[in-house]
Amino acid sequence: MLEKAKWISLSEKPTATCQVFRKTWQQTEFSQAELWITARGVYEATLNGKRVGDFVLAPGWTEYDERLQVQRYVITDLVKATNELQIELGKGWYSSPMPGWIADDNEDKRGRMERPTALLAEIHLTDATGKKTILVTDEQWEVAESAIRFSEIYDGETYDAGFLVTDWQRPVILDETHENLIAQEGEMIQEKERVAVKRIFQTPKGETVVDFGQEVTGYVEIQLTAQRGAEIKFTHGEVLDKEGNFYNANYRSAKAQVHYICQEGYNQYHPKLTFFGFRYLKIEAFPETPRADHFSAIAIYSDIKQTGSIETGNVQLNQLISNIFWGQKTNFVDVPTDCPQRDERLGWTGDAQAFVKAASYNYDVARFFKKWLADLRVAQKENGMVPDVVPDYLNDGHYSAAWADAVTIIPWQLYQTYGDKSFLVDNFEAMQKWVDFVTATTETENLWTGTLYFGDWLGLDAPAGSLMGSSRVDFVASAFYANSTRILVETGRLINRDVRQYETLYAKIVTTFRETFPTYETQTEHVLALVFELASDPQQTAADLAKKIEADGFKMQTGFVGTPHILHALSRFGYTELAYKLLLRTAFPSWLYSVEMGATTVWEHWDGFNEHGDFWSEDMNSFNHYAYGSVIDWMYEEAAGIHIQQAGFKEIVFEPKVTKDLPWLAVCMETPHGLVKTKWSWREEQLCYEVTTPVAACVRLDGVETKIAPGTYTFWGK
Ligand code: BGC
Repeated sequence: MLEKAKWISLSEKPTATCQVFRKTWQQTEFSQAELWITARGVYEATLNGKRVGDFVLAPGWTEYDERLQVQRYVITDLVKATNELQIELGKGWYSSPMPGWIADDNEDKRGRMERPTALLAEIHLTDATGKKTILVTDEQWEVAESAIRFSEIYDGETYDAGFLVTDWQRPVILDETHENLIAQEGEMIQEKERVAVKRIFQTPKGETVVDFGQEVTGYVEIQLTAQRGAEIKFTHGEVLDKEGNFYNANYRSAKAQVHYICQEGYNQYHPKLTFFGFRYLKIEAFPETPRADHFSAIAIYSDIKQTGSIETGNVQLNQLISNIFWGQKTNFVDVPTDCPQRDERLGWTGDAQAFVKAASYNYDVARFFKKWLADLRVAQKENGMVPDVVPDYLNDGHYSAAWADAVTIIPWQLYQTYGDKSFLVDNFEAMQKWVDFVTATTETENLWTGTLYFGDWLGLDAPAGSLMGSSRVDFVASAFYANSTRILVETGRLINRDVRQYETLYAKIVTTFRETFPTYETQTEHVLALVFELASDPQQTAADLAKKIEADGFKMQTGFVGTPHILHALSRFGYTELAYKLLLRTAFPSWLYSVEMGATTVWEHWDGFNEHGDFWSEDMNSFNHYAYGSVIDWMYEEAAGIHIQQAGFKEIVFEPKVTKDLPWLAVCMETPHGLVKTKWSWREEQLCYEVTTPVAACVRLDGVETKIAPGTYTFWGK
């Protein structure tokens, strides 16, 4: 792939501005043309003034040193007799300073900032006789400074529409490295939705603010007629403060600004080589009074197809569901990120494992995760350690229980949802290396102790000043060690590997865990003991959990580790009403509390805003973190009652857990075997459960089990 092409750039050193490359050629008879291309940085190509393809922020984000995706575009329809290909290139993830909090003396960060961006491409032209000509990036191409005067992932973009690109030069050749090139694997990032302005208003401080009414990830397109040199400047934000003023201190060091200098006449522009997470814009300069028709927000995300939907008879719950879908779309930008706005936007493994089941029910994310798991395997160290983020931009040697366990949990869930064994085959060795790493590094045999972990991150029971909930870190780590070992054993059995040694290990971990942790102290400890099947007396543990929640005033204390499982732990052992009580609770802390406070995506913290409207902190306060949105998987499985009986929904058990507190709940799910639908509703106090199944299934209602063939059915409960 691209064997003959050379890496070309404006300079051997990083350039302050973006670069634009040019290749012109004459073309007479031809039948087919293709552009093969990749970049160190992010690029956008046009041929004869028309955009090539629709991949935004190409070539996407991977473990670049080992895996750099190459795109192939068919450009036959764009080729003319005289041709000019132009490619703009910005720093992107390759050389923007990321992440923001790493000290300047960190060599790795310096390294990334100092890497020059570069282009590698080939134009393949086939004439009518089948003869192929290939134009490769080399000394003969041209390059210049682009009208994009600045572009970085966190800080934004500066564009001078009147800047004339005149200073075309011959590029420098950086090198001819091809070893890390791979074909495009992931879904492409595309412009998927447009959101119109909801209102433009003045804040008490006198700022002019544009509100799109929905948090999105992407950028804003502006259009207006102006004079050459007129300036437009705006900054992005997610929320207003309690006085109603613009606020984005929670973006930390990410400036998230756009600066545009107009050309004479009509201007239409949006950033091309960066993106933002935002709902609001603070307008700092605009040539006239800003109007709604000047702006439109463009939501970008990976081209994942929606497969699930849930609707209920409760308006607030429906808003939460919408927030969860937006939370997913806005963070599935080639890599599953923690958040799209502040100086992180990283592929945090813990967040991804917490959300993967929900993600795979909401959208078809098989291809999206297949690519990311390939990066995870590359990021995994020789000794089996799995880093906190993938691609591993932190590269600090840190790892944690529940984060690194993404290596077992994610492939396992994807196998469950899609029935595709390649997730197991591809990742078995990585899972095994990970379990072996814990076994080799733990301080206590058959448990996992003695490392730095994130614990039950952001649990509300955290001691003052800590971000880690009160659950014992060794408890959490040992529970995940057990769970990963169990997954490894089950995976091995399914793909015929010898896992006898891990069966023995698993049995020992469970015994040692039970001896070491006979009692549970926090909500999350109870939850993990139940869902990872570690409790010796599950029914008693569930009863204790229910009592504890009641004693805590029905307030969840769980963080990233406990929250995805708490409702499952309750309803699995007969505490369905309590599960619904937590789901439908609107007081702090709860999912619907954020809805009451006007959220349009899922918050990082239960108390992003506290009850007085104050921010819990400036430092770690994202209003778009999908992790707690994992609650939607409980709605599909338990509330709607759709349980996978055989991987890939090849066989289903329908067993809804209902409540009188909701008038109805309806779910549609596109599975690999066809469309599944359920709806339950109360008809004069009687439960009506409607089911459509594409596969043979079993319905369990009020203790009665009915086998059904594919079709649509109505059942009546008590
Ligand atoms: C991220 C989280 C992540 C955590 C790990 C944060 O800064 O935003 O979502 O999982 O760090 O501790």
